[in-house]
Amino acid sequence: MAGEVAIKRFDNGRNYLFVHHDLGYGQFMDSAVIDRLLAGVEHERTRKEPPPAFPALPDIPGGRYTDPEFQKLEREHLWKKSWLYAGHKDEFPERGSYKLWARTGSPILLVRDHEDRINAFYNTCRHRGGPIVRDNSGTVRSKLVCGYHGWTYDLAGNLVGVPDKHDFIGLDMSCRSLIPVRCECLGNWIFVCEDAAVAPLAEYLGPIHEYFQSFPLDNIKLVQQETFEIGCNFKILQETFFEVYHLKATHRGTVYRFLDHRGTNNILWQQGHSLMLTANRRRDWVDPGVKGMTEMDGATDIERYNNPSFNIYPNLVTPVSPSGMPFLLSWPKTDRTMLLDVIWFAPDWGDGPPHALWKDRTENFNRILDEDIQFVTKLQESVESNGFHGAVLNYQERRIYHWHEELDRRIGIDRILEHLRVPQVLGEWVADGWL
Ligand code: FES
Ligand SMILES: [Fe+2]
Repeated sequence: MAGEVAIKRFDNGRNYLFVHHDLGYGQFMDSAVIDRLLAGVEHERTRKEPPPAFPALPDIPGGRYTDPEFQKLEREHLWKKSWLYAGHKDEFPERGSYKLWARTGSPILLVRDHEDRINAFYNTCRHRGGPIVRDNSGTVRSKLVCGYHGWTYDLAGNLVGVPDKHDFIGLDMSCRSLIPVRCECLGNWIFVCEDAAVAPLAEYLGPIHEYFQSFPLDNIKLVQQETFEIGCNFKILQETFFEVYHLKATHRGTVYRFLDHRGTNNILWQQGHSLMLTANRRRDWVDPGVKGMTEMDGATDIERYNNPSFNIYPNLVTPVSPSGMPFLLSWPKTDRTMLLDVIWFAPDWGDGPPHALWKDRTENFNRILDEDIQFVTKLQESVESNGFHGAVLNYQERRIYHWHEELDRRIGIDRILEHLRVPQVLGEWVADGWL
C-alpha cells in the first residue's frame, strides 16, 4: 500500500507521534535507516558526555588557515582531486548553451551538445591557448570558435576547422581536440573533477549518492543563485556550517528557536563526507516560510521534522528540507578571501517563475547567513595574529576535525609540514554507510 506504512511512538520524552510514509521514490530511506538516524538523535539528546572511547581532538593548527604553502598544497591536491559542483542543467536551456566555470582557478567550459549531454573542457584553444569563450555564459549555434585565430571545435570538443591549415606542417587535427574535464551528473546537478584517478561520482559520493536516490532528481529545478565575496579563508566560514554548537550564541533569535542543538546526530563518512542531523525542538513546528510550498516526492520525516545537513567533500553543504534545498559552496578566492555561492533548488513547480514565497524564504535564509558571516573577517584577523595558537574542538564539532583529517589524506600527509598536520585519530568513528 502506498502512503502511510508505519506509525510509531518515538519515545524521546516529548511524546512525539512519529508517522512516516512509504517512499514513492527511490525506496532508500526505509524505516531501518530512519529509525537508526532518529535513535542517534535521541541518544545525543540524552547523553551526558561523549562516548568514553572518543579521543580528545588535537588542536587544529592556525597555520592551516594562513600559511601560503599550505594553501598551495590545497590548490594542487584538494581542489584538483575532488568532484566539485559546477552547475545545474537549467543553466543550459538549449543545445549550444555554455557556461564558463573557474571557481578553482582552471578555466573550464561546460557546454550542452547535440545529444543533450553536458561536456566539460578546459577553455583553452589547442593552437596557442586562446580562450574558447570569454563570456561567463551564452549560447553558440553549433560550433565553438576561438576568437584569436579562428580554430573551430564542435560541441564534443573535436577540432573541425583550422584557417590556413596547409601552413601547419603535419598537423593531425584528431590529436588537437579540446582537453576534456571529467563531468558527471547527479540528477540535474553537474559535477566536474580534474583528476583521472578519482572514483566515478556515484562511488565518490557513497552514502550521499544513495540518499539522493530517494528523490526525483531529474525534477529538481534551479530557483536562484547568488554569490558573496567574504574576507576570510574559505575554511573559516565553512566550519560554521559544520556544527550547531554556535546556535545559542550566534542564532539566538533565529535558528536556535526551532533547532535543538543537543539533539544532533553527526555521521562521519569515508572521503570526508558527513551528515549533521539536527531535530526540530517541537514536533509540530513547520517553518512558516515554507507552508504552501510543494513537497518533494520521497521526503520523509527526516526532512520534515529535522534538519539533515550534508557535506559533500570538500565544499558543498546542503541542508535538505521537504520543499527544496540550498547548496552552500565555499571557494577560496585568495588565501584570505573567499566566495560563497548560495544556490537554491526545488521540485518542479511547472511553468513560470518559482513560487512567490521563495523571495521571503531566501531573504530569511540570508539574514541567518549574515549572523554567521558577522564574525569571520575579524576571525581571519585573529588567526593571522600571534594571539591564535590553534582551534580546540569539542565532540559536537567533530565534523570539522573529520574534514581536516581528510584534507591531509588528500594532500598526502608527508607533503605537509609536521606542525601543520592534524593527527589521524577518527578512523574507527568513520562509517562506511548508513547502517
Ligand atoms: S589560440 Fe585559438 S586559434 Fe589561435
Ligand atoms: Fe550558523
